[in-house]
Amino acid sequence: MTARTIDGKVIAAELRARVAEEVARVKREHQLTPGLAVVLVGNDPASEVYVRSKHTQTQAAGMASFEHKLPADVAQADLLALIAKLNGDPAVHGILVQLPLPKSIHTETIINAIDPAKDVDGLHPNNAGRLAGGFAALSPCTPLGCIILTKSVHASLEGMNAIVIGRSNLVGRPLVQLLLNENATVTIAHSRSKDLPQLCARADLVYAAVGKPEMVRAGWIKPGATVIDVGINRMPLPDGKTRLVGDVAFKEVAEVAGAITPVPGGVGQMTVACLLVNTLRAACAISG
Ligand code: GUN
Repeated sequence: MTARTIDGKVIAAELRARVAEEVARVKREHQLTPGLAVVLVGNDPASEVYVRSKHTQTQAAGMASFEHKLPADVAQADLLALIAKLNGDPAVHGILVQLPLPKSIHTETIINAIDPAKDVDGLHPNNAGRLAGGFAALSPCTPLGCIILTKSVHASLEGMNAIVIGRSNLVGRPLVQLLLNENATVTIAHSRSKDLPQLCARADLVYAAVGKPEMVRAGWIKPGATVIDVGINRMPLPDGKTRLVGDVAFKEVAEVAGAITPVPGGVGQMTVACLLVNTLRAACAISG
């Protein structure tokens, strides 16, 4: 292995510590306790794990955490009523509705109902549009985490060739906008792109966010490139257990890349840390 491993655990812990310091300061100087409300609909086991981790880390940073668990068959009107209540609650500065939602709920309607000033997921069209227009916005947490990890390797991304593989609203699209804001030259690739290996070959920065286990191979990577793996895939093992793997074939790509994030212990760690950053930002902006 030649690549440096980018330690998301350490970088996320440093970020959480900085947030906790800042939370202590706004509490002391402005009597403001930032509050995050997380809404979980149904009992998807992976979502439950994420929501628990958000709750624990929010409290550990000194913020107020409000958890709302609703049954999978909740009426859309009841979910909208809860969001309206959270929009009007002065103790709540950030609202996150855990995705995916059950099929009976229209996700876009729910996201549109969140007050954009409290949209710490950065998914509301106001925030997505502001980000695309190059204006200040609450931006999605995972792409923010990707940028912070990249900047732990490169102080400036200006003029670098980046490729983002994946075009989801939660990761690929906003990541492209954040990279543009950093003055990188960005290629957007996706499931219909042709000749991905060739597209990757000139990239200094590779972001894999497709949800396909170990899809990105060593032969695709320019020697010395920085590789950020957003994938979290559960691979079944012969003994019935599962192993977490990313979208990048870590072992072989690490032989070629200059720096690489592991899975687990890379991007995943950053998402909740950036959620805390967004909640603090929202609280400060709302409270003036
Ligand atoms: N499900 C998986 N990741 C996320 C995320 O970043 N935000 C929300 N709301 N749901 C998710």
